[in-house]
Amino acid sequence: MDKEEIKKKYNLKIKDYINYNQSYYNKNNPLIADSEFDNLKKEILNLEKKYSYLKNVNSPSNSVGYKPSKTFEKHTHKLPMLSLANAFDEVDLINFEKKIYNYLNKSTNFEYSVEPKIDGISASLTYKNKKLVYGVSRGDGIVGELITGNLKTIKDIPLQINDTSFPDEIEIRGEVFIKKSEFLKLEDKFANPRNAASGTLRQKDPNQTKKIPLNFIAYTFGYIDNYNFKYQSEFLKKLNKWGFKTNKYNKILPNIEELVKFHKHFEERRYDIDYDIDGLVYKVNDISLQNRLGNTSNAPRWAVAHKFSADSATTKILNIEIQVGRTGALTPVAKVEPVNIGGVVVSNATLHNEDEIKRKDIRIGDNVKIERAGDVIPHVIEVDKSKRDKKSKSFIFPEKCPSCGSKTLKEYNKTTKKYDAVRRCTNDGYGCEKIGVEKLKHFISKDALNIDGLGKKVVENFWHLKFLRKPQDIFNLDYAKIEKLDGWGKLSVSNLKNSIEKSKKVSLHRFIFSIGIRHIGIENAKIISQYVKNIPNLIKLIEQKQFYRFLNIDGIGETQINSLKKYFDNQQNLRIIIELNNILNIKDQILIKNGKLKNKTFMFTGKLNGISRAEAKSMVEKNSGTTLSSVNKNLNFLVIGDKPTKRKLDQAKLLGIKILSLNDLKKLLN
Ligand code: IVH
Repeated sequence: MDKEEIKKKYNLKIKDYINYNQSYYNKNNPLIADSEFDNLKKEILNLEKKYSYLKNVNSPSNSVGYKPSKTFEKHTHKLPMLSLANAFDEVDLINFEKKIYNYLNKSTNFEYSVEPKIDGISASLTYKNKKLVYGVSRGDGIVGELITGNLKTIKDIPLQINDTSFPDEIEIRGEVFIKKSEFLKLEDKFANPRNAASGTLRQKDPNQTKKIPLNFIAYTFGYIDNYNFKYQSEFLKKLNKWGFKTNKYNKILPNIEELVKFHKHFEERRYDIDYDIDGLVYKVNDISLQNRLGNTSNAPRWAVAHKFSADSATTKILNIEIQVGRTGALTPVAKVEPVNIGGVVVSNATLHNEDEIKRKDIRIGDNVKIERAGDVIPHVIEVDKSKRDKKSKSFIFPEKCPSCGSKTLKEYNKTTKKYDAVRRCTNDGYGCEKIGVEKLKHFISKDALNIDGLGKKVVENFWHLKFLRKPQDIFNLDYAKIEKLDGWGKLSVSNLKNSIEKSKKVSLHRFIFSIGIRHIGIENAKIISQYVKNIPNLIKLIEQKQFYRFLNIDGIGETQINSLKKYFDNQQNLRIIIELNNILNIKDQILIKNGKLKNKTFMFTGKLNGISRAEAKSMVEKNSGTTLSSVNKNLNFLVIGDKPTKRKLDQAKLLGIKILSLNDLKKLLN
């Protein structure tokens, strides 16, 4: 056969392949047996191997078998699918519980619902009038993909519920996973069972999904129409009654001591279970307490994932590099000989800070044990000193910033009366190159301006090209120049332009977060934005240096105030805000408009019975009320608990301000 004949034969096979493929995937109507189809694929691939000039975009060699499709319809979750905070040890658990008690009240009693954390893919199932109407992947937690057809192929997912107690509308959430024993059969296609479940679930063709035995275990609900259960454990029982599978290891435990005991016991048994479990989830069992606790921006306050300990491996430290972070922190990072830990190749490990290096006496050339837990950055656990070279020298931590050469400092903490373990570059602001780049990366990040066309790598590149120095430069980029850069074209530049334009409209709290003030995370940014309400007020407050006015706001303390002061001592930082305000469209803080407490102001004094100050405050704000931090003529109500401050009470009486008890306030709200 000559070249032309071979090409012709090849093209005919491709034509058949397209035809069969379309019929199979799009029309759900296979024209030939699977084995014949596989043979055809093999023939095409063999021809391509033999004659390198054969190429076709539709060839099976171009379609990665399990590549997730980009064509699923998007679906916005009625309520976001949050993630969970992690705990790695008892101290983390104690802190978790402490926050709960601080938020509720020290005397509140509660139990934990304990559930294995299956390492699969979470999915959401919406039932209306007892029928499964759609199934959605988690996606980014806000928007997922409509994968109803694929989810319907899972035998553990009921399509219809017959129980009379089933709500008219409910979103049931749980984990889709594949058993380890089933995964062994697919090992050549996927790296681990989680990837196998994810790949299978996102097949374009439900018939393909059906071929791999996926499982579903239900564990929580999203939107729900009316419900008559009080406890998570009660809900789990209901799930069973309605026909869902729940985990047989779920249980109720009363306190941290028992949680830790059970965790230890379960961790030892985890490998005997035929699916991957990466920890235990502890949830406050009482749903009314869950509702009171609510969520932070990405995780519920009432639940935590207690992870199992990580995999570890030994390797050698090749070098120690010092990274400079956004807040000037100097972080030593060990460059290690690449080593595989639990399926991931690790070549960097954090050494945390100067003190940690000293404490563990970590040196370049040392043999070390490295641990990797979940998504956490790998870190060095111990040094094998028996293998240390006699000539090795202690590591000397630099006294000057490796990026800008400025002096570095360890701050003194007045509360702990100790020097900070972290050394920081004193050249904050945009004077230090590394800090500047990190600030820009923060400025574009998801919770900040969320400029997705401008990733971290691009920021670095643009910095090196001197396109960017300050945040405002982002809005003044020379697109013609960018288009000429390697890897850029008309389309990518237009995408970049669009996402930058889109980002100009930004809420006040995101803006406050985006400027990257130390100790002002997204939650604190929200608190400040609720207080100042709009950008002119914020600028005025900065110009007049009145940060002390935040002092009485729950969540803002001396640390935050000092950090704000320090940040704005640098005149350049205020200038940046003013310039950005001229470019951006910074939205006023939206107030929930028509709550019962609209246009009413409140202040609390004394110990409130049963709830924390933070919760009381959020109760007022949820109903459109405002809380003030001092008694003045703008105050409408002073809410008093036990032992109110006498001065405040007297002042309020003098000004004719109404005095309420907590119960009076609750009555106002029904
Ligand atoms: S509750 C709002 N319960 O863990 C609470 N999640 O990091 C979040 N997961 O995306 C869900 N087992 O995929 C919950 N018993 C369980 C769980 C569980 C596994 C996964 C889930 C979620 C992730 C959170």
